Formats: sequence, structure tokens, C-alpha cells
Amino acid sequence: MHYPIYRPRRLRRNDDLRRMIRETRLSADSLVFPLFVTPGRDVKKPIQAMPGNFQMSIDHIIGEVRTTKDMGIPAVLLFGIPDEKDELASGAFAKDGIIQRAVREIKNEVPNIVVITDVCLCEYTSHGHCGMLRGEEVDNDSTIEILAQTALSHALAGADIVAPSAMMDGQVAAIRTALDENGCGNTPVMAYSAKYASCFYGPFREAAESTPQFGDRKSYQMDPPNSNEAMREIATDIEEGADIIMVKPALPYLDIIRRAKEEFDLPLAAYNVSGEFSMIKAAARLGWIDGDRAMLESVTAIKRAGADIIITYFAQDISRMLQAR
Ligand code: PBG
Repeated sequence: MHYPIYRPRRLRRNDDLRRMIRETRLSADSLVFPLFVTPGRDVKKPIQAMPGNFQMSIDHIIGEVRTTKDMGIPAVLLFGIPDEKDELASGAFAKDGIIQRAVREIKNEVPNIVVITDVCLCEYTSHGHCGMLRGEEVDNDSTIEILAQTALSHALAGADIVAPSAMMDGQVAAIRTALDENGCGNTPVMAYSAKYASCFYGPFREAAESTPQFGDRKSYQMDPPNSNEAMREIATDIEEGADIIMVKPALPYLDIIRRAKEEFDLPLAAYNVSGEFSMIKAAARLGWIDGDRAMLESVTAIKRAGADIIITYFAQDISRMLQAR
């Protein structure tokens, strides 16, 4: 069928027609809102490079989780900024660590919202790397033991899903085993399976105070030019027991999201990371782009590429927009 018989413009003539034939629909159901928990009381510290986002103490976090839930967003993802950092990342798995306390309080105060915890060590190590150091190298096998302890401590505190993001080999299996052996067999693992060594995490490192003190993360996070390797990473995580797989970042990796959707049938998450958020905010602030439209177009594109779940700092803004319609 071709012109003049086929005229695709016929169905684009007004918004009602466009709405009828729209192939991708955003809904608050697929969104996850990330939050940064910091110690203290009544702390709400703006994150410079991520306008509208804050490091918040638990009392403020509770209110924010409630707002998120009232907007119809089913889940939050928690990152913790501990009181103190050390070589061993002790704050990551402490029974009364920042995340463990936050989860317990959220579970007490705000029923019926999914609490996902990021399981990584970079916020808790004095050197800012995602694992235990041996010399200047991040040691894989001792790190996965600590990650397993950390995930277990989150689950015992009441986390609904644990999300390992350290990109250590075998981390999903180590966590799955620790959970299963300690009565947390029902806690799902959302694996950051294909996580790239990306410059788009820049603003997050200010938010989580997790910039590595030396070197970079290229020896554990993935090399951006690789696509086949991402499929191997995902396949491995599924074999190790992942319940949800993830591609991160999202916008520069839509091809990876699409490929993952086609090759695997597990629920697929995509992380629309801090840099993707900040670029739009910055350009909008300069008057160079329409921020709301850029946000909606970006997140719709991530969904269209195949993501079932989208972790985004835009979650509240989007759900506000959807409600206003
Ligand atoms: C922890 C972690 C990072 C992000 C999520 N979990 C930072 C990193 O790997 O350096 C980035 C999220 C974002 O940029 O929004 N390892």
C-alpha cells in the first residue's frame, strides 16, 4: 500500500485520532522514583546538578514516599548516604545503617508501596569504589560476600526488592543464596545486568557522594561500545536467579533495551540516569528546549524501546502530567 492510496497523514489530523492509534502509553504504573537518604533530622539538601532532587533525612523521606504513592507510582528506589565511610563499607550492611533504618520506618509509616534498595558499596567505602580493594584493584570475590550481606540486611529490614548495581561477577547468585538461606526466599532481585561505565552518572555522584577517589569504574562496569556482551551479562544474571533485569543508562542505550526485550522474557527495567535528567533540566533552564516535552518524549522513547519498568527522576513530574490530562 502506498501513496496515493495510503496516506498516513489521515490518522494524524487531530489529537483524538492520534490518541486512538498511539502505540505506546505511559502510565505511572511503570515508574520508579529514586530517593537519597541522609542521616540526621529535618535535613533536605538540594542536589545542585539535579534540580528538584534532595538528600533527605528519614523524616522527610517518609513524606516523599507518601507523596510518591499518592501519585500512583508503585515503587521507590533508595540510595543511602552513611554517617561514616570506611575501607570495608561497614555502613552498607550495618543493622542500623541508614538504608536499614529508612526501610524499617517507611514500612511502618507508608503501607503498600514497593521499596527497592540499591545494593552497592560505593556510597559506603572511603575510596568510593563499588567493592573491596586489593591494591588498586577492586576484588570481585570478597566483594560479592559483602554485597550478599548487604542485600540480606536490606531484606531483613523489610525491603521488597533488592537491586545489586556493583557489576561484580556472580553478585546475583551470591545474593540469591544469602536470601534463600536466611528466610528471604520471597525477596526478588532486580539486577543491574547491563550497566555501562557511563559519564551520565556524573550528577548522581554528587547526590550520593560516591565519586571514586582514584581511577574509574571501567574495570567492572561495561564498555559502552559493547552490545553482545550486554546480552551475555543479562543471560548470566538470569541463570543466577535475577527476577528483573536492567539496562542502564537508558537513552543512549535504547538499542540495548530493545535487544534485551527481544532476547529475554523477564521483566525489563531501564534506568533513566541522573545525567539524562540533568541535561534536559539544564537546557530547559537556558530556554534552549521545552523541558516538559523533552521529558515526556524521552521517557516515552524508553518505554517504546521495550522497558517495562522505568527508573526516573522525572517519575513525579510525569505522573503529575498524566493526571492533569
Ligand atoms: C551505584 C549506582 C550508581 C548509579 C546507580 N547506582 C552510580 C555509579 O555506578 O557510579 C547511577 C544512577 C544515576 O546516575 O542516576 N553504583
